[in-house]
Amino acid sequence: MDIWHIRGGRRLEGACFVQGSKNASLPIIAASVICPARTELMNVPQLKDVDAALRILRHLGCVAEQRKNDVYIDSTYFSCSAIPHSLMEEMRSSVIFMGALLARCGEARLSLPGGCQLGKRPIDLHLSALRQMGAEIEEDGQEIYCKARKLHGAEISLPFASVGATENIMLAACTAKGKTLIHGAAREPEIVALQDFLCSLGADVTGAGTDTVVIDGMRPQKHAVCRIIPDRIVASTIACAAAACGGKVELRGVIPEHFSTVLYFLNKSGCDIMSKNRTVSISSQGRLKAPGHISTQPYPGFPTDAQPVLMAALLKAEGCTRITENIFENRYRQASELRRLGADIVIEGREAEIWGVECLRGTSLNATDLRGGAAMLIAGLAADGETVVFDDGHIGRGYERFDVRLRAIGADIFLEY
Ligand code: UD1
Repeated sequence: MDIWHIRGGRRLEGACFVQGSKNASLPIIAASVICPARTELMNVPQLKDVDAALRILRHLGCVAEQRKNDVYIDSTYFSCSAIPHSLMEEMRSSVIFMGALLARCGEARLSLPGGCQLGKRPIDLHLSALRQMGAEIEEDGQEIYCKARKLHGAEISLPFASVGATENIMLAACTAKGKTLIHGAAREPEIVALQDFLCSLGADVTGAGTDTVVIDGMRPQKHAVCRIIPDRIVASTIACAAAACGGKVELRGVIPEHFSTVLYFLNKSGCDIMSKNRTVSISSQGRLKAPGHISTQPYPGFPTDAQPVLMAALLKAEGCTRITENIFENRYRQASELRRLGADIVIEGREAEIWGVECLRGTSLNATDLRGGAAMLIAGLAADGETVVFDDGHIGRGYERFDVRLRAIGADIFLEY
């Protein structure tokens, strides 16, 4: 159990380097097995999910190791197309290995990713797309077995711009016969990052960042070197912490456009934001004001992953903030814990109302999930007195040395393992 001890009420001041993106790293690590190749990745965060992805690669027979923020993978040797449940359940996005294994050897056996805290997380779009490409798929509610003598290109229309489904199709299509078109594709920066990596392996992928991605199947086989993009959700989290606590924080090594919707709402709530090249500085003078209605949407809309941390930043904002959560059905689990600090949050289905309170009072909380846990840290930093967050490993799945980074900008926070 990780136990976070926070003494709230301090202003945050200083500069902070933002880690590489977890959600860009994981599909790129899976992509490294689509062909026999050597891969070097830089700026990979040291996280539990990354470690789980590398263990999956080693289980498949590849060489995979992380030294600080560099990852080395050699997928020349590859001995297995099945991933055991014990490894699958460690990382929810392990389903991305399905497309990668089909691309490499025409076969994948894996267990279904476990039930998620954010609500149902079906993979029907992934399976339907792979079937359209010629995969035969058997599922028994616990395990999936996919097989294809040779995948072929297909014209696929996604009814919802699913990030994971877009990534799985991209990977499977890289070695399929002919051209695959994904209409209604997700447009997240992580999709563009995956395309860049696949192209550096020698694959033919275009259109990422638009709603149509085109993959021309071939046999990619180059030595790929890639620098992982900065994590826009970690950047958003630190920006929200600065907004909630007051002070001035400079985020370094970021791509401001990637989290511009979050910065927009922080600016609307009274923070000054300055973006220059790869740096964003955010200053907050004291009590924020409610920024109006926030509605989560696929990129370039407001990210669902930043919803809990922005909610936490606005608990003391003057007025009422309304949030509509459109991506996940159960993404307000942090709310009941935040109420224990004195927050006034009303939830009805996908709608949340946050009525700003004068002050929050520290108490002990239980982290519910990755971003919900981060939201509790922010609320604790903005609360009077001491807050203790008991965390069963959620926050460490996405935030690298977060206690150290927050202390460096003046937070009084200590992580007990
Ligand atoms: C990815 C991110 C996650 C982020 C999410 C939305 C990674 C590792 N994770 O998750 O942090 O919150 O995008 O931006 O990159 N859906 C279906 N059927 C499917 C697939 C998805 O109904 O086959 C639904 C999901 O239940 C969910 C919504 O679509 O309600 C979004 O899911 P998706 O975009 O696929 O998210 P992930 O790729 O799982």
